[in-house]
Amino acid sequence: MKPITLVTGASAGIGAELARVFAGHGHELVLVARREDKLSALADEFAAAGGQRPTVLSMDLARRDAIPALATELAARGLEPEIIVNNAGFGLVGRAARLNRDEQLAMIDLNVRALTELSLTFVDGLARHRGGILNVASVAAFSPGPGMAVYYASKAYVLSLSEALHQEYGRRGIRVTALCPGPVPTEFQQRAGLRDERSQIALLSLSAERVARIGYDGLMRGKRVVVAGFGNRVAVFLLRIIPNAVLLPLMYVGTRWAERHS
Ligand SMILES: NC(=O)c1ccc[n+]([C@@H]2O[C@H](COP(=O)([O-])OP(=O)(O)OC[C@H]3O[C@@H](n4cnc5c(N)ncnc54)[C@H](OP(=O)(O)O)[C@@H]3O)[C@@H](O)[C@H]2O)c1
Repeated sequence: MKPITLVTGASAGIGAELARVFAGHGHELVLVARREDKLSALADEFAAAGGQRPTVLSMDLARRDAIPALATELAARGLEPEIIVNNAGFGLVGRAARLNRDEQLAMIDLNVRALTELSLTFVDGLARHRGGILNVASVAAFSPGPGMAVYYASKAYVLSLSEALHQEYGRRGIRVTALCPGPVPTEFQQRAGLRDERSQIALLSLSAERVARIGYDGLMRGKRVVVAGFGNRVAVFLLRIIPNAVLLPLMYVGTRWAERHS
């Protein structure tokens, strides 16, 4: 089986930049997301630059049958993940009881379930290739998030799972890194329902390209957790020391403000 780097959510934002960084370091790629045209355009870009054209797989990873179908597709092509980049994900802004329940559950299917299934399914191949998993969590993983409750909880799960697998899989020669970006201007904000740029904290914001490079370096160095950017490391430090009794009401007020401006 030929070893490949699988990147989920490669059709936009951080995932597209992660694909660029891995391609730039000579990795053979499989790109996964729903929008085939975007994935194909990226694959063409890499081929035009003289690299290997990535395999493009258009699929909805929130579907229950997605990962078995992906595994079958890869095996049929003689491909096996050496590195898995679990990047596909989305958030929703608003009070949980007001947001659409099915959409919130779909968020868990993508951010949590698909990521977990991908992290478990290919473990023997990852060990054989002494490869790795880069899970895209978030600064949101470090506290509860009133106003984005399910999203924050999903990222706390990603961080927790990644840290535990870092320990377990490390014994088999597999690196596992949780990448925790702060705000990154991508399609994420519009998908989440944030339409006002003022709701972005400019001080903490990094480009998707920068975040992707930080994530790649973190994985290659075998880091357990990588928080992208100095400002976000300070934010995580504060999130860890400020009591929830103080933090949560402040976040709730922030959310009401964001709701009014979205
Ligand atoms: N942007 C931020 O401020 C920020 C901060 C911290 C963490 N993150 C995390 O970073 C990751 C990437 O986000 P981003 O900012 O790059 O967002 P983005 O620009 O909206 O990109 C999301 C990617 O996920 C894919 N995706 C969404 N639903 C999918 C599904 N059901 N099946 C397969 N692919 C799906 C999208 O492709 P298709 O639409 O083509 O399927 C797209 O490629 C996410 O896990 C997000 O939680 C983002």
